[in-house]
Amino acid sequence: MPRRGILKLVYLLALVVCVSAVGDFDWTRNEKTSFYYGTFPTGFLWGVGSSAYQTEGAWNKDGKGMSIWDVFAHKKGKISSNETGDSSCDGYYKFKDDISLMKEMKLNHYRFSISWPRILPSGLKSEHINEKGIKYYNDLIDLLLDNTITPVVTLYHWDLPQVLQEKYGGWQNESMVSYFNDFGDLCFERFGNRVKHWITFNNPWSISVEGYETGEHAPGLKLRGTGAYKAAHHIIKAHAKVWHTYDRKWRSKQKGLIGISLTADWGEPVDMSNQRDIEAAERYIHFYLGWFATPLFHGDYPQVMKEYVGRKSGQQGLGASRLPVFSPQEKSYIRGTVDFLGLGHYTTRYITEKNYPSGFGDSYFADRDLAELVDPQWPDPGSEWLYSVPWGFRRLLNFVKSQYGNPMIYVTENGVSEKMLCTDLCDDWRMQYFREYINEMLKAIKDGVNVKGYTAWSLLDSFEWDEGFSERFGLYFVDFTNKDKPRYPKASVQFYKRIISSNGFPNQREVESWKRKAVETCSSSNQLLAADPLIGHMEMVTEIVVPTVCTLCILLSAVFFMFLLRRRL
Ligand code: NOJ
Repeated sequence: MPRRGILKLVYLLALVVCVSAVGDFDWTRNEKTSFYYGTFPTGFLWGVGSSAYQTEGAWNKDGKGMSIWDVFAHKKGKISSNETGDSSCDGYYKFKDDISLMKEMKLNHYRFSISWPRILPSGLKSEHINEKGIKYYNDLIDLLLDNTITPVVTLYHWDLPQVLQEKYGGWQNESMVSYFNDFGDLCFERFGNRVKHWITFNNPWSISVEGYETGEHAPGLKLRGTGAYKAAHHIIKAHAKVWHTYDRKWRSKQKGLIGISLTADWGEPVDMSNQRDIEAAERYIHFYLGWFATPLFHGDYPQVMKEYVGRKSGQQGLGASRLPVFSPQEKSYIRGTVDFLGLGHYTTRYITEKNYPSGFGDSYFADRDLAELVDPQWPDPGSEWLYSVPWGFRRLLNFVKSQYGNPMIYVTENGVSEKMLCTDLCDDWRMQYFREYINEMLKAIKDGVNVKGYTAWSLLDSFEWDEGFSERFGLYFVDFTNKDKPRYPKASVQFYKRIISSNGFPNQREVESWKRKAVETCSSSNQLLAADPLIGHMEMVTEIVVPTVCTLCILLSAVFFMFLLRRRL
């Protein structure tokens, strides 16, 4: 056969493989059915999560170097109320207390992250290893194991050493790939005899888009249309390199697993009978999850990303696509570098097609040609972006199954927030959220999705990035106004504990009693919290002072308005 003929055949085969892989997910199947009573497979793992910058505090203690988040949070105007994670929950000092809380909940695992600059202050393994930082993580891991809690360790939860940002431009620079590999290798060397579950990156979408495209997160760069794609490209390579290092050097001795944690919303077509909406929703997910998952499972970016970014780049008069390209060697190096997929999920959007004409400005968002909508009836108790849409979770899990060959999944994040000023520990909305989202995960397992564990986000209220402390995701309330940072259980602690001890939802009668019982325990915690003088003061401000001042303002404006009217008449 002539060469061109062979090439054509290979191309056709590749096309068939791609089309059939994408074709598996049934977009029109739209079950939003009622509650399912049943239990999870034996051995299903239940845990909670946290991350270093969000909880540890001790930002400049015991030889720790500066991270991009330390620097970013100290700049005025970057974080809500100019708050910082300098002391946060003081997890660095209080991890023993926190492990007691976890033991009480009978958790199987605890997901936390290692702060890169805490153990490598200048970012480089060749320069200086901070043994005090190593000791902190050793103590944490040992105590978890003493309490039969499995450590699940994230290597990178966004806190890049500041030096690497300043010297090289952080994830814009390919050199991060080998610096990150050295850091990972050091972690395997020092902790790998006890840690068997590794996550390379947490939510690379956020690192790339919010760190390098919109600039809402550290390092705060606004390199629209290019920055996010470049950062993601290096992150994918860095992930693959660390996976290979583990595979080659440590796996046979340490017998662990190494994966990545990708976070994605579900995108539901606005109009199921409209093929263009279906395609727009598919694009939304491929630009979100597929951007990272497709290279790691299939060796290259999703076809639709290559097409859209390529075409838009052409229309903008660029000689090459803004989406970087993997060489054939890189593709085979990257493909298959996940022992498990960590999945973070919180919410859903309705998606419809929307054309962004060229000249609109380069951006990741415009490249997708779609609009995101929400149903105003969806509950949204806390963060502005977080609507509770449980059925989206089941659809996302089924999508992963159909697209990536039913991989082993650990849900690495799922949860809901409330506003900072809310001091009510009877968090009805969170119990409802967990009940429904976990139930959708159970349905997905019945659908055949290979989910092995679930991690509630998060153990404690903590530093919520650019939102500072204004949004609380914790199962435990943290009183940040008190220098001892006391923790108080919200009702959802009891509720989650019941799910864990029953390994699911055994029957209607029992499950319905859980909320009632949880609420009984939370009223006593509420009293404890109200006894805290600072919180008592806060409550007085929110419950008495703010409403009184508002009412007075309204009255005064009414009087003023009437006065004006009378003068005119
Ligand atoms: C994802 C991030 O990984 C985590 O750090 C954050 O707290 C949650 N989303 C909630 O926004």
